[in-house]
Amino acid sequence: MAQRIPEETIEQIRSQSDIVDVIGEYMQLTKRGRNYFGLCPFHGEQTPSFSVSVDKQIFHCFGCGAGGNAITFLMDIDNLSFQEAVAKLGEKAGIEVDVAEHQHHHHVVENVSPAEQKMLEAHAFCGEYYKHLLLNTEDGEQALQYLENRGFTREMIEAYGIGYALPNWDSLTTLLSRKGFDLEMMAEAGLIIRKEDGTGYFDRFRHRVMFPIRDETSKIIAFSGRIIDQSGENAKYMNSPESPIFHKGKVLYNLDQARPVIRKKRKIVLFEGFMDVLSAKKAEVHNGVASMGTALTIEQIQKLKRLSNEIIICYDGDNAGWEAAKRAADLLKAEKFSIEVALLPNGLDPDDYIRQFGAQLFQDKIIGEPLDLTSFMLTYSKRHKNFQYATDIEQYIEEAISYIAVDASIVKRELYMKQLAQETGVSEETLAVQLRHKAQQQQSRQSTEPQNVAVQMPKMTRKLTAIDRAERLILAMMLDNRDRVYAFQQEEEQIPFVREEYKAIFNELVDFYEQHEQADFHRFAEGLEDRNLRKIIMEAALVDRDPDHAEEEWSDCIRQVDKYKIQQLIAQRKQELKEAEKSHDFIRTLKISQEVIELTRSLAYL
Ligand code: GTP
Ligand code: MN
Repeated sequence: MAQRIPEETIEQIRSQSDIVDVIGEYMQLTKRGRNYFGLCPFHGEQTPSFSVSVDKQIFHCFGCGAGGNAITFLMDIDNLSFQEAVAKLGEKAGIEVDVAEHQHHHHVVENVSPAEQKMLEAHAFCGEYYKHLLLNTEDGEQALQYLENRGFTREMIEAYGIGYALPNWDSLTTLLSRKGFDLEMMAEAGLIIRKEDGTGYFDRFRHRVMFPIRDETSKIIAFSGRIIDQSGENAKYMNSPESPIFHKGKVLYNLDQARPVIRKKRKIVLFEGFMDVLSAKKAEVHNGVASMGTALTIEQIQKLKRLSNEIIICYDGDNAGWEAAKRAADLLKAEKFSIEVALLPNGLDPDDYIRQFGAQLFQDKIIGEPLDLTSFMLTYSKRHKNFQYATDIEQYIEEAISYIAVDASIVKRELYMKQLAQETGVSEETLAVQLRHKAQQQQSRQSTEPQNVAVQMPKMTRKLTAIDRAERLILAMMLDNRDRVYAFQQEEEQIPFVREEYKAIFNELVDFYEQHEQADFHRFAEGLEDRNLRKIIMEAALVDRDPDHAEEEWSDCIRQVDKYKIQQLIAQRKQELKEAEKSHDFIRTLKISQEVIELTRSLAYL
């Protein structure tokens, strides 16, 4: 067990940290009254049901029930132990905490099955193996040469964990087998492929430069292998297939590295391919991410939105790139992102551009001076139109005006209208009439849409029953006052809870109060390993209470629970009664009947 951090240190760190600052580094929060709201980072959602209370220094999600304070937030989001979370918080507050080295391992993430754990292990192992082949063997020389020609330094190769797969059909298969990995499982993970005739397996990646793909916690979950000599008809890139640990539609390349940079810059750069992400790093653009050769998905967008809602789309300058950028822009627009588009000239991709014009120009001209969305849309709309034809002009005006009408800035609207008049030769007055018309259309469309306010009232996922409410309130009062716990400690069956989680919390609370004189639900929740129990505690701590009628509230709740317990008992007895009758056990039938009558009578006294 870890060496304990002194209580005073914990207290000091806590008092010097603000939960809004802590959480604000991970997601966008909007102030509403005394509270802050945002999109819950613990479950996918479109409307913010995640709230942070400044007064209570806790957060709570009405959607999924997640809840806690600054410390448990770090525990949950970064998968840290209590001590690691305290140390991290201390770092920000400038208070050093000695956390022994061996504690720095991360906990096994919840929801990772043993098979998935093995697959992750295998990927980590393969990553090392491929890297070794690239950097330390003769076999890897050609691949290393290729990377050097593309401007990768040795430091970059090591930092990104790039490697090389041998041309043989069975090098990795043999090695994995020797290391004791189950080959069928390895095939499921996509590292090897089962032979069609069922006689064994062969390596998926052969004679390719290997780029590891990592999840948000930097674990390798897949690979992308690039061909070295373009000659054959083999695909340029070969990616791992979908597997239990790799879901293409969810992964964003480099998100683990980019996340802190995005938070700091409040801006995301979205690239088309992961090679562009790596090239951009040469130009000091570190907030770049890319999808894995597929169109952007809503899941990926939700992930990004929790970090920032400002995004620069930097796709290839070829036709496919333009079309993909337009699609991405439409999707991101629907999710209320503030969008800019960095256009690459002459059909180049970011990597080509940097090689031709250098990192500095890429940084200054491409990423530094992107087009705003309206301007991009106008340029997009102008492509493939010939202004010698009236219908093309008309269509362009129609499209252009629909984009201009939704531009948030009046100044820009006016500037674009002027530009449009110049481009098309149609008078500004005529265009203005069209714009008004369009604006009205869009407005009436919006008002018929379901309410679209930024912060919707939180919805409870399940209606609370009376007993739920009573248990929660009892717990809330116990969290505030240790005497409320001591009132029950002696007799087990008297514990005023019915659900197992609450009983477990009660027992923990008894232990806690043995060691702590003061009630302190923060400290209490932090000490619990079980995230689910922490959730229940935080929900209870958030309950609204009536301090003027505390005693009445208390006895009401206790009565509710007692009543519920008796009702449960009656139901149970009635079941037993049925069984006794069925087996013609008259003595037992009589005895149970009497018990039921007594229990029912006792209800009346409550
Ligand atoms: P380089 O040619 O190495 O500079 O890479 P690039 O980033 O310029 O590649 P490109 O723009 O052609 O492709 C962008 C992304 O599409 C890549 O990162 C891959 O994810 C994907 N992709 C490209 N070619 C292939 C292919 O042949 N097969 C598969 N599965 N994906 C590909
Ligand atoms: Mn390229």
